[in-house]
Amino acid sequence: MFKTLICYFSGNGNSYDAAIELGNNLHGAMLKYIPNIDPEITKEYEEIIIVSPVYAFNIPSIVQDFIISMEKGTKYHMVFTCAGTVGRSKETVKTLSRRRDLLLLDMHKIMMPSTFTTMFTYPPFLEKKVLKRSRKQLAKVAQAIANNENSTISLKKAKRVLGDVDPFVSFSDGLEANKDCTKCGQCIKNCPRKNISFRYDELTFSNMCISCYACINRCPENAITYNGKQVKQYANPNVDLYRMIKKQ
Ligand SMILES: Cc1cc2nc3c(=O)[nH]c(=O)nc-3n(C[C@H](O)[C@H](O)[C@H](O)COP(=O)(O)O)c2cc1C
Ligand code: SF4
Ligand code: SF4
Repeated sequence: MFKTLICYFSGNGNSYDAAIELGNNLHGAMLKYIPNIDPEITKEYEEIIIVSPVYAFNIPSIVQDFIISMEKGTKYHMVFTCAGTVGRSKETVKTLSRRRDLLLLDMHKIMMPSTFTTMFTYPPFLEKKVLKRSRKQLAKVAQAIANNENSTISLKKAKRVLGDVDPFVSFSDGLEANKDCTKCGQCIKNCPRKNISFRYDELTFSNMCISCYACINRCPENAITYNGKQVKQYANPNVDLYRMIKKQ
């Protein structure tokens, strides 16, 4: 087994859960949360596994930026978690890999419950079923990675310049805090994009949002609304969302 680092980004715990499960199957792999990673550290590992959610048919810009930050020649596996379709994500990963001369070894898709709660959710019985099924999928992916079953992906057809990567579209315009906000600052501290701040004493969302919806879950007052409505945001039941973002 190679010296492996699993780098994950996650809004509501699905990709973190997948990263932990992969780590358990690939004994000895280290786990790190992408916003906390100094890209230099990836040089210390023989292989990287990136676990990313799919938001609006693409990987979030924070993961795209991380891929671009990796050293030329880095060998890596890509694992997407999504609730249906990865959309343009594969094309984005290939294009970025080609641009940075990275060695993209394989790509895998893991089905998880939907965190896109402003658009659609799974009924609870289906959430459980999907989560249970994901254990089998993750075990298979870990095995494929450990056995090097998938050969390196050809990047010949990937679009040639970064400008060709379809832009990441954020579903964030409707986010705001309602009157229940106590201005505790938790959402500001925990936003992976530093997209929330106080402006003239009002909680303000800027335009760096990646629509991970983590702020909705982490608000102790449930004061963050979408288009003026309260959202019952899904959180993965297997993980601790605060532990997920802690600096290891
Ligand atoms: C804003 C938003 C957009 C999403 N768009 C997609 C999508 O295009 N395709 C899909 O299959 N799932 C989509 N999802 C669902 C997530 O990909 C899926 O639930 C994922 O496992 C979330 O992982 P996380 O908890 O690690 O962020 C979306 C979720 C959010 C919050
Ligand atoms: S976490 Fe909630 S209560 Fe605290 S500042 Fe943010 S919106 Fe307000
Ligand atoms: S503002 Fe909320 S949804 Fe947007 S990136 Fe920050 S935590 Fe995620």
